[in-house]
Amino acid sequence: MNTLVTALYIVAFALFIYGLMGLTGPKTAVNGNLIAAGGMVIALVATLLIPGVSNWVLIVIGIVIGTLLGVPSARQVKMTAMPQMVALFNGVGGGAVALIAWVEFREDPGYASHPGYFVVASLFSAIIGSVSFWGSLIAFGKLQEIVPGRPIGLGKAQSALNLVLLVAAVVLAAVIGAGGTSQWLIVGILLLAAVLGVMVVLPIGGADMPVVISLLNAFTGLSAAATGLALSNTAMIVAGMIVGASGSILTNLMAQAMNRSIPSIVAGGFGGSGTAVGGGAGGDRTVKSTSAADAAIQMAYAEQVVVVPGYGMAVAQAQHAVKDMAKLLEAKGVTVKYAIHPVAGRMPGHMNVLLAEADVPYDQLKEMDDINGEFNRTDVALVIGANDVTNPAARNDPSSPIHGMPILNVDESKNVIVLKRSMNSGFAGIDNPLFYDEKTSMLFGDAKKSVTEVTEELKAL
Ligand code: TAP
Repeated sequence: MNTLVTALYIVAFALFIYGLMGLTGPKTAVNGNLIAAGGMVIALVATLLIPGVSNWVLIVIGIVIGTLLGVPSARQVKMTAMPQMVALFNGVGGGAVALIAWVEFREDPGYASHPGYFVVASLFSAIIGSVSFWGSLIAFGKLQEIVPGRPIGLGKAQSALNLVLLVAAVVLAAVIGAGGTSQWLIVGILLLAAVLGVMVVLPIGGADMPVVISLLNAFTGLSAAATGLALSNTAMIVAGMIVGASGSILTNLMAQAMNRSIPSIVAGGFGGSGTAVGGGAGGDRTVKSTSAADAAIQMAYAEQVVVVPGYGMAVAQAQHAVKDMAKLLEAKGVTVKYAIHPVAGRMPGHMNVLLAEADVPYDQLKEMDDINGEFNRTDVALVIGANDVTNPAARNDPSSPIHGMPILNVDESKNVIVLKRSMNSGFAGIDNPLFYDEKTSMLFGDAKKSVTEVTEELKAL
């Protein structure tokens, strides 16, 4: 039986890695996901075949409850709510790992009959798994707007408190390592780590949430790998390390894209206490609004139009309408490009996925570093439901909470047309000076409706 389990695990690992390769491009991502999910089913079946697995009634009840909760929510979730769903599902993984550490402790107080590596790995899983679970719940709450998105924290005292919580959890772990067997020790560790998870994520606001979500993902992976080590389960080690490694790489890439350091984000140093102005009219500054007809004329006579998509394009599901409009512009001899910011939307690659779904040619999608030098040669930058990723305050205003985050230099274009419904702020909850720039015209309304109207006007020209 052991040989069969090992063989099935090897097949599962191959499928995980092959599936992961598919996730490198939007066209292959769906298949990649299915292949990796197939690998996970095989790994699950193999685990159930391990001699000694009993309690079948409990296992079946668990699978049924998980399926009843997971399948409908994954099917019904809107694309725009995907990040909070990922945060929640990821957190549940961390929570499961922390519970395994507790169960093992209950069965064998102090892990007394286990070797040292088991004790270390289990205590690591308890701390990191609990941090990940509670931190992910707060991240879910913020993205779902159940918890206020603005930073909530103790300012400078926050880092000190977080350090005290971490040290206290490690001290309790050391007491267990030294032979402590009281159940309160493990409960204390789980509680301290829970408060730490909450305290780490609550003060993180606005634009830094993407980095935190992928960091928590990496934590869950690492804690699962540690549990695999304790239980000598290779499937958990491999799957956990894949999640931990890819999550860590993604966190690093996102932090670089946001010009943030990971330790500073975790210490609550960013997205912090800046002067966020949410949704106001921007003092006595005025904005210029335009009509679909004027926007169409401006773009039809342009040499180059750069489309800057953001979260609002996803909400409006305007990607197909945008593609149709671009086709008309190209037929009139206008060069159309798309400027993609790494954290536009609400998940990594959000804009790429939407535009690929609308069959926008991939070579027209330009990454931030490639397109930023082109804005000063661009006649019209058409901002479709993007806000934070175009905010020049990130470049010009040291007091801005997003200062230092690289942005798309839309304000350098000759003309800017912004499609959004109101003067409301974006995810970071701050005002955007771009909207008050003399070169900027606002086309108010739902992005899909506005783009469709512009397209109709273009047809009539
Ligand atoms: P945001 O700054 O969030 O702005 C989106 C804008 O879209 C809003 O100002 C909103 O204004 C507009 N909008 C919403 N629905 C619309 C509709 N139906 N039609 C037209 N406009 C609509 O978006 P962004 O520029 O893409 O920036 C992304 C932000 O999310 C960043 O702060 C980023 O850090 C954060 N974030 C990103 C991720 C990842 S990984 N991408 C994950 C979590 C958070 P109105 O309400 O006035 O229409």
